[in-house]
Parts: sequence; C-alpha cells; structure tokens
Amino acid sequence: MYKIAVIPGDGTGPEVVREGLKVLEAAAQKVGIKYETTTYDFGGDRYLATGEILPDSAVDELRGYDAIYLGAIGHPDVKPGILEKGILLRMRFELDQYINLRPVKLYPGVWTPIKDKGPEEIDFVIVRENTEGLYTGGGGFLKKGTPDEVAIQESINTRKGVERCLRYAFEYTRKRNRAKKLTLVGKTNVLTYAFDLWERAFHEVGQEYPDIERDYANVDATCMWMVKNPEWFDVIVTDNMFGDIITDLGAMIQGGMGIAAGGNINPEGVSMFEPIGGSAPKYTGMNIINPLAAIGSVQMMLETLGEEQAASYIDKAIAKVTSEKLKSLAAGKMGYSTSEVGDMVAQFVAEQ
Ligand code: IPM
Ligand code: MN
Repeated sequence: MYKIAVIPGDGTGPEVVREGLKVLEAAAQKVGIKYETTTYDFGGDRYLATGEILPDSAVDELRGYDAIYLGAIGHPDVKPGILEKGILLRMRFELDQYINLRPVKLYPGVWTPIKDKGPEEIDFVIVRENTEGLYTGGGGFLKKGTPDEVAIQESINTRKGVERCLRYAFEYTRKRNRAKKLTLVGKTNVLTYAFDLWERAFHEVGQEYPDIERDYANVDATCMWMVKNPEWFDVIVTDNMFGDIITDLGAMIQGGMGIAAGGNINPEGVSMFEPIGGSAPKYTGMNIINPLAAIGSVQMMLETLGEEQAASYIDKAIAKVTSEKLKSLAAGKMGYSTSEVGDMVAQFVAEQ
C-alpha cells in the first residue's frame, strides 16, 4: 500500500493534478497497485489567507510518505520568491531530494521547433543536482542600498554532494541502457574551482563504471548542441543552476512546458514529482491547460516506486494521445479540454 501526499498548489496545479490522479487510478487498477492519497493545501491561497507558508510539522509529516505529487507553486498576488523558496525549494532541501531528474523526450506527433529532428533524435535525460550550487542561499549584501553596495551569491559545491549526484547519474545511465554515455555539463574554462571539483569527481567515480562513456561539454556549447545535435546526448549531469537553465531549453525542444515532467529524487528517502512548468495563472480554471506533464510525472513516480509496468502503460498511452489525438500541446489549442486529455490517457492505459 503506497501512501502518496498530494499538493495541488496554485493556479492550474489542481487541474493538472486531477488528471494525473485519474491516470494513476487507471494504471493502479490495471496492474493491481494499492495506494492512498492525502491532500495538502500548501500554496499561495493558503499563504494569503493565513500567512503560513509551510508549517514546520509538514516537512516531517511528508517524510512518512512513499512519494509526493505536486501540481505547481507560484501565485500572481504573492511576491516572487516567497512561495518558491518557502515551499518548493524548502521541500527539495529538507527532504534532501538531491536529484532533479528531467527527461527530454519528444513524443510521436509532437511539434518541435528543431527542424529535421524527431523522436529518434530528441530523447535524453538531464540529471540536475538539486540541493547545492547557487541555490543554497550562501552570500549576502554589504552596504545594501548605497552606491557602494556589494552583493555576493555563492555557489556551494561539496565533494559529497557532487559525488552522490554523479554516482546517481552513472547508475541511471547504466540502467537506461541506451548509448551508455554520460555527459558532464559545466564551465571548466571559467569556473575553475567549482567545476574542477566536478570534473575530478566525474572521472574518479567514472572509474567504477567502465561500461559508461564519459563526455564533457561547457554549458554554453551544450545549449548549442541541444538545438543542433540533440541526438548526441544520452544522459547529462550538471549542477543546480545550469540544470535549471538547460531543462527549460530541453522542455522547448520536446514540445513545450505542457509535456515536461520532472522528479525531485531522494534515492534513500521520499521523492517529489512535478510538472516542470509553473502555475500558469492566466489559464486557471479554464480546463484548457495541458495535463500531460503532470501525467508524465505520475509515470516517473511509478517508475521510481519500482512499478515499471504501470509506468510503461502510461508512457504508451501518452504516445498514443500525442500521435493520434492532440492537434497541439499548447493550452487551448489541443483540440480537447484538460479533462478530456486525462480521460483519453486513462482509457488508453486501461485498453492495453
Ligand atoms: C524549476 C523552477 C524552480 C527552480 C523555481 C520555481 C524556484 O524554475 O523547478 O526549474 O529554479 O528550480
Ligand atoms: Mn526552472
């Protein structure tokens, strides 16, 4: 019996989570998985009503679940940063979800802005370190608000933190069993401390994985290759900030935020799955947002829980919907409503 915490969150979060749960139920029925869900109302509305962002007890309570399923965090009436840092980043950090796993996979029938590239060429995975780098909050101001102001934002890279991320990436590349190539993405030509550590650790850990080819690319060049030759990549591993940036680029080449799913993974603890797009306030309540990213996140959740058969049914159902049904992946242009897309995926899961 899996215990799943559900945080629908802000904006269109609740709408896409509803469809994800619909598909979860279909997959669970299909393979005989038992689960129960508990819903939490963390997000902008709760904060505006009560002033509370994330109760201290919540993080401990969340540790007791097998997985967390999150819709979206971000509210137009709340200053940017409060909810993102107070809810999303706090959960990633305190639950030590040190991997942010983001597949870049072009499903059949999906339009990509990259000319002459299709599902064969656009299919790789980005492993983003999720608890260190520029995201730790290290640094500060000096003489703030004066002409002499200094702002320092530090990138923290610990050998332990880097090594566990790399090890996960090597294991993942082995398990994925495709080109068996792991590309470290960094900036060794300029960030000669942080990425020196990354590069040394990469080759040291890599000794334990003689079956995995090691490759390196600077982050700027990576942006170029992701557009020009996306087929060169199998698995990419990188730090928190670069991972944040290149996964938005990745989302675009796989058809947009409507289909980009992600997992915040603690391999030894509780992981959290979320569509990587935001709360899309302007589409809220209209039943036109694309739920496939949220549905893909359910697939990743099942995969991580070891329910690979159920995950594979969802993957095939998504492919059937993109190739045979949807006109576009964009909100309002799919040719179907949010709930109709959820219905179709659930039906195709049941029919396999
Ligand atoms: C993401 C988002 C977050 C991040 C924001 C909302 C804090 O952009 O999940 O990629 O920077 O990690
Ligand atoms: Mn981002």
